Amino acid sequence: MKFFIDTANLAEIQEANDLGILDGVTTNPSLMAKEGITGHENVINHYKAICEIVDGPISAEVIATDYAGILAEGEALAALHPNIVVKVPMIRDGIKAIKYFTEQGIKTNCTLIFSAGQALLAAKAGATYVSPFVGRLDDISTDGVELISQIRLIFDNYGYETQILAASVRHPMHILKCAEIGSDVMTGPLSAITALLNHPLTDIGLAKFLADHQKAAKTA
Ligand code: G3P
Repeated sequence: MKFFIDTANLAEIQEANDLGILDGVTTNPSLMAKEGITGHENVINHYKAICEIVDGPISAEVIATDYAGILAEGEALAALHPNIVVKVPMIRDGIKAIKYFTEQGIKTNCTLIFSAGQALLAAKAGATYVSPFVGRLDDISTDGVELISQIRLIFDNYGYETQILAASVRHPMHILKCAEIGSDVMTGPLSAITALLNHPLTDIGLAKFLADHQKAAKTA
């Protein structure tokens, strides 16, 4: 399973990249705003900075919600760097734009997916990725991980090449459940990724190894 980090924070992107397991980055307008990145020029420069850190797919989201606007914005974003993936919302004009981008060879990530029907439409339009929001479904007492299973089954039934990008992943169990199902990608915060490192028995075992090593060194 590919690991993307879901942030616009350059220090966290660098830290995840330094870990050696990062495959890509997803951003959205809320994550950009959280980092205080405002204004067209600054947003564009921020995408360029992310592309310099990570050599993998970088999702950059359009703001326009009309067909012509999405096309203009998406083409400009795609021209920034070969690794840019144009992130398009799951709306009627978004689906039409994904179809157009696919025909132009521009990679897309269809975002704000909350149902299998929406994922199926995006796959039919040729989306490179669909982003079902696991955590936000959990937030409304609906099983977000179950949606990943449903989409996996549908895509496998027909051999759709669209990759399932489990988004709104919040914690390590989301990551593990998505991996069990066979999600192609997951995107989450650095905290969810680094939480996978931890096990108390690892800490206890390592402390004992080091203590035994010291003891043996003293008696040698
Ligand atoms: O990738 C989508 C993600 O940014 C949404 O995450 O935690 O805001 O639901 P969250």
